Amino acid sequence: MEQRVYVFDTTLRDGEQSPGCSMNLEEKVRMARQLEHLKVDVIEAGFPIASAGDFEAVRFIAKTIEHCTVAALARAVKADIDRAWDAIQYAKKPRIHTFIATSDIHLAHKLKKTRDQVLADAASAVKHARSLCEEVEFSCEDASRSDIGFLCEVVQAALDAGATIINLPDTVGYAVPEEYGNMFKVVRERVKCGDEVLFSAHCHNDLGLAVANSLAAIQNGARQVECTINGIGERAGNAALEEIVMAMKTRKEKLGIYTNVNSEEIYKSSKLLGSLTGMLVQRNKAIVGANAFAHEAGIHQDGLLKSPITYEIMTPQSVGIKHSMLVLGKHSGRHALKQRYAELGYELTQEELERAYQVFCSIADQKKEIFDEDLVAIIEDRVGDVEEFYQLENIQVSSGTNLRPTATIELRIGDQRLVDSATGDGPVDAAYKAIERITGIVGKLTEYSIKSVSLGRDAIGEVFVRGEFDGVLFNGRAVSTDVITGSAKAYLEALNRSLVAKKKKSEQVKEEIKEASVAV
Ligand code: KIV
Ligand code: ZN
Repeated sequence: MEQRVYVFDTTLRDGEQSPGCSMNLEEKVRMARQLEHLKVDVIEAGFPIASAGDFEAVRFIAKTIEHCTVAALARAVKADIDRAWDAIQYAKKPRIHTFIATSDIHLAHKLKKTRDQVLADAASAVKHARSLCEEVEFSCEDASRSDIGFLCEVVQAALDAGATIINLPDTVGYAVPEEYGNMFKVVRERVKCGDEVLFSAHCHNDLGLAVANSLAAIQNGARQVECTINGIGERAGNAALEEIVMAMKTRKEKLGIYTNVNSEEIYKSSKLLGSLTGMLVQRNKAIVGANAFAHEAGIHQDGLLKSPITYEIMTPQSVGIKHSMLVLGKHSGRHALKQRYAELGYELTQEELERAYQVFCSIADQKKEIFDEDLVAIIEDRVGDVEEFYQLENIQVSSGTNLRPTATIELRIGDQRLVDSATGDGPVDAAYKAIERITGIVGKLTEYSIKSVSLGRDAIGEVFVRGEFDGVLFNGRAVSTDVITGSAKAYLEALNRSLVAKKKKSEQVKEEIKEASVAV
């Protein structure tokens, strides 16, 4: 039978207290509302004794949230517990979460208390909390590094004093899954408690094992998991909510457990947290990173287009992302390119696709990612439409603060390759002058513009020129990540058009002469 795992979100407490993640009251309330939409079971809203701001935020959240339990943290100290209760007493479902460290390391170096003192403090803290609140969670801080016998004694004392939830944190992210899971097994076997007592996992990510450890705890009987959105939290963070929830959902058959979280709200929650704190997730972050549903390798894109299950173990929609992304770059194939063009409204023939693909490949070699604007620019550039008398083979330009701009250009016309150099007022002027020297054609530039057609420093530049050749105006356009190359190509296109026109004109004249002589 599938069993429910309760999701305890501590984004606003363990997450918020970490560097770069602080939020003001209004931001905390917005986040809490989103967590309610996400349908987490418990929102740990803060640590009321820590500051007046924390207290106010917890109080406000407790009054605002309707469907989730609202928890407040307190050390195993009366004043903390009273303050926590003051903050959450008006919540529809309040919970006091009190804790004390149980490892010898913490007892000796931090608390400077004996085991007996800690036992007594745990019991009296829980007792006092229970006198105020029906639901009391007790945490053994640094449980994973505690002596298992003493840990069991403290848990028993807390249960006897009335704790309803027992949390066994891996506070410093030290445990490995088998070990952490086993701790739950042993404690649950040794302590005497009713079935209604909930065991909880709380893992930090210092060794990158927080999610794996949380799952190991669940497999050993934990039915509450403590986590944060995007995995924010002390040091390397806490177990990421989105990863735990999606692991349970995606591997339901294997794990046999479920949560009530509305996974379709995950992406929105992640985004909101990122925008409130400025702490953005890395591109390759599981579930919510920009690459989590993005595919670039040609083989993967092809497989995905044939059937998403080839390369996606969950749908992007299941976490609230609209669709997967085929990132067009140098690893993409024709299949993905054709599909993207179709989505952009271009139904390409085989021939058009082939032509676009060739241009795409040469641009993709210079540029990390090709955007839709780039694709439109490629297709509208109508490569090959203009009969190319002169083709640009190579261009080399040097310019700088104290350098006379110089361009060396190599053009191909038929089987011939022609090279020349020129200096100019700027690199573009130098390039145009070199073209003039090679072709012997002097054009007058009447218009020149350049604009970026996509985002980023490696964006494609689109160059537009209008040149006057023998008194007639011709346009040229080219796209390139190198604006000087684009400028040379655009100018050559205008020049080639003038040559095509000239050729057509002379053919027409010849035809007219022929017709006239026939008539005579
Ligand atoms: O990591 C930890 O041990 C904690 C406790 C206060 C629950 O955050
Ligand atoms: Zn913690």
